[in-house]
Amino acid sequence: MTENGTPEGAAPSLPAAAHGATPTRGIGNVPRSTTETGKFGRLFRGLPPLMLDETQIQNVVNQMVDAGEQSSGGGWSGTPTASDSNLAAGWTYFAQFVDHDITFDPTSMLDQANDPDALENFRTPRFDLDSVYGLGPSANPWLYDRNDPDKLLLGVNSAEFLQRDLNRNHQGRALIGDPRNDVHVIIAQLHLAFVEFHNHVVDRVRADPSLVTGVPATPVGGWGGGAPVSGQPTFGQIVTLVRWHYQWLVLTGFLPAIAGPDTVGEVLKRDKKGGLDAVLKFYNVRRNPWMPVEFSAAAYRFGHSLVRDAYLLNGTLPPLPVFSPAGDADPLADLRGFRRLPAGWEIEWHRFFDGLPNSGTETQRARLFDTRIAAPLHSLPASIDQMQRSLALLNIKRGVAVELPSGEDFATAVAGKLGLDPASVAVSSGLSHGTPLWFWFLKEAEIQRGGQTLGPVGGRVVAEVLVGLAENDPSSFLKAQPDWRPTLGAQAGEFTIADLLTIAGVAL
Ligand code: HEM
Repeated sequence: MTENGTPEGAAPSLPAAAHGATPTRGIGNVPRSTTETGKFGRLFRGLPPLMLDETQIQNVVNQMVDAGEQSSGGGWSGTPTASDSNLAAGWTYFAQFVDHDITFDPTSMLDQANDPDALENFRTPRFDLDSVYGLGPSANPWLYDRNDPDKLLLGVNSAEFLQRDLNRNHQGRALIGDPRNDVHVIIAQLHLAFVEFHNHVVDRVRADPSLVTGVPATPVGGWGGGAPVSGQPTFGQIVTLVRWHYQWLVLTGFLPAIAGPDTVGEVLKRDKKGGLDAVLKFYNVRRNPWMPVEFSAAAYRFGHSLVRDAYLLNGTLPPLPVFSPAGDADPLADLRGFRRLPAGWEIEWHRFFDGLPNSGTETQRARLFDTRIAAPLHSLPASIDQMQRSLALLNIKRGVAVELPSGEDFATAVAGKLGLDPASVAVSSGLSHGTPLWFWFLKEAEIQRGGQTLGPVGGRVVAEVLVGLAENDPSSFLKAQPDWRPTLGAQAGEFTIADLLTIAGVAL
């Protein structure tokens, strides 16, 4: 047996908590009536659902296979290929990290069983990093350092394993707020960067308390942390400072990169004083923020199109896919997580993000936002989908199951026009009428934005929902202090992913 509790040579299978392994609670029953509310809802309740049978769905999936990159092993030569975008590859997994943050469901098993459709009892979607902080030091003390309870606990591994790692139990499972953030190596190390960022921010604000001037303490009762020391920032203030910097990064760095600056500029405007104002047209929040199914089952699944066949973690390892069926037997065949990793598997982040000292030709790019999905995702490992089906198939089936409208109907409702030639979309989807919404969003990205960002309608949905979640969170900087500016970045008033990784001490 190995230290992570699996038989020698076998990689651990993915537990039900893996990203995508179980549908998000509540997505199985999305109300149409305007009087019902819940975790999920619809942006346009009156649009008819697109009905597709199994053959029609399979037809679309067949159009979405891209085997092109496979021949080169999916590696990175330093020059983008025809299937690469300009977007740095790390944003793909930043997107997944954000998805986990806003869909995290810490509801107890009893409450989940009593409310399977998440109509009453659900955690409001927020950019609050509860995937990192869990329920705070009082409720989840195992996430925190007993000797300095303001800090999150890091892992300790023996020499044959990766030294810089998440805290893990003796079977290798990460002890983190949201277990999905250990599903593969890239998101696990991104999560680790957030943990280390938090810990370094603790040191920084202790050395210079002016960094938290005007920042309110996290308004969560009984969170604990270290005992308040006079003149020193409290744990609650440090958490708010970290969250606000993360929210800034989501709204001003990540969102324009995926939805396009023009689309974001229509939804998040700068006022005369330099503050940010949300202008929402389609995403209305009456009581609590909720998840539009058009976002969750279609627009925000753009990430599946960005996944590369394989990634170079550093200059030593060969290119490896995130998941491959071969990884079920060979722990060195893919980047799956839920385990301690061999020494030498650390990520050199300049290979994933721009703006770091070594970024440049070695920085891998995400695939284009388009209707071609990398080959490995067309045969998921049995541990994610027992029938080893294509992820494209699962997405389109989910869209049908939650009664999404066609792309044609949705685009007309949002923009008053189609924006794409329906006949040529039909040719590329293999369908004679009505296009699945997820496919439509990817097609408009491909045709109207050259695959560099989401298109105007899909981008608008993503921008409205992400901005709307922040706007309707009383503790976000956007709501609480819309003219707040970051204090931790290298450039005054700005904060980038390169700043985060640099402060975290992982900017290799
Ligand atoms: C790394 C490769 C990935 C795999 C194998 C994967 C797999 C899956 C699977 C199996 C599902 C459930 C499908 C269903 O509805 O039955 C899913 C859902 C989803 N995925 Fe992924 N995914 C990956 C990456 C990403 C990325 C990078 C994003 C970033 C945008 C993303 C966003 C989503 C979203 C929004 C859902 C809907 C459920 C939720 O909110 O979590 N996925 N994925």
